[in-house]
Amino acid sequence: MSSDGSAPTTQQALITARQVAGRDICLLTLQAENGAPLPEAMPGAHIDLHLPDGRSRQYSLLSCAPYTIAIKAVRDGRGASQWLHDTLKVGDTIRIGMPRNNFALREGATDTVLLAGGIGITALLCMYDALIAEGRTVCLHYWARSVEETFLHAQLSSRPGLHIHSCGGRVTSMAAVMAEHGPEADLYCCGPTRMLAEFTALTQGRNPQRLHIERFSADSTTLPETTDNGFSVQLARSGTTIAVGKDQSILEALTEAGVDIEYSCEEGLCGACEARVLDGTPLHRDSIRTPDEHDQRRTIMLCVSRARSGILVLDL
Ligand code: FES
Repeated sequence: MSSDGSAPTTQQALITARQVAGRDICLLTLQAENGAPLPEAMPGAHIDLHLPDGRSRQYSLLSCAPYTIAIKAVRDGRGASQWLHDTLKVGDTIRIGMPRNNFALREGATDTVLLAGGIGITALLCMYDALIAEGRTVCLHYWARSVEETFLHAQLSSRPGLHIHSCGGRVTSMAAVMAEHGPEADLYCCGPTRMLAEFTALTQGRNPQRLHIERFSADSTTLPETTDNGFSVQLARSGTTIAVGKDQSILEALTEAGVDIEYSCEEGLCGACEARVLDGTPLHRDSIRTPDEHDQRRTIMLCVSRARSGILVLDL
């Protein structure tokens, strides 16, 4: 417990193993610094890694026990993944967040199809391992640019139901894979933006409850127009009302007002800042929940959502 009695949201983790898993990709195995078990996590979950400079990055769990993550150094990126990949070694510690799962396996699925591109393989490989262990029907299709860039190529190439499509020779298309699976199949996709766009186009007409996507970055082409108006949020537990400027996120307005909110990606991708809406009409701009899920959960992501009504009452 933290000093105010609430459960801690981060903890120090010790790196107990490091393995090269492909070009510019390393695997890190983590355990709690004090030796206690890390919080239970299920396939599809991710954790935040908090860098010493204050930035944080989300990584899907490749294994839930012990936690294993794969870090791909993006050489022309913003430097965080490169620092994590190049710096962390066995015996180092890093602060991690509690596991969150926006990409869970659906209970009761009879035909699960996992479609991975690039480093998006990590969450899907965790799901594949879990389903195989349960004796369930699953196939995993993994597209990679080359054998050298294929994650754990030697270990994965002989696994049952796991198909690697790397360039060189004729590559099976996603359309061909989907054509083999009827409307009852649960389809999971994680990979680069272009792959997710193709997945979305190919799955038009399928039951949205059977479609599951995890994104690395927000797709602005599918998000609703933002509003250019300011509005207010009322915090139901304290009764405080806070104005949100037209150029400000709710998260920014709340933190500037001294309200302690957990957050991570600030892009509507991770779910860390999710809050329940008690009244008012939100304008959702996250990349996690479907419209149905928004209706059922009555929550918003404070970092990107806005309001269609003049005021939102939040369960905070
Ligand atoms: S901080 Fe990640 S969804 Fe808001």
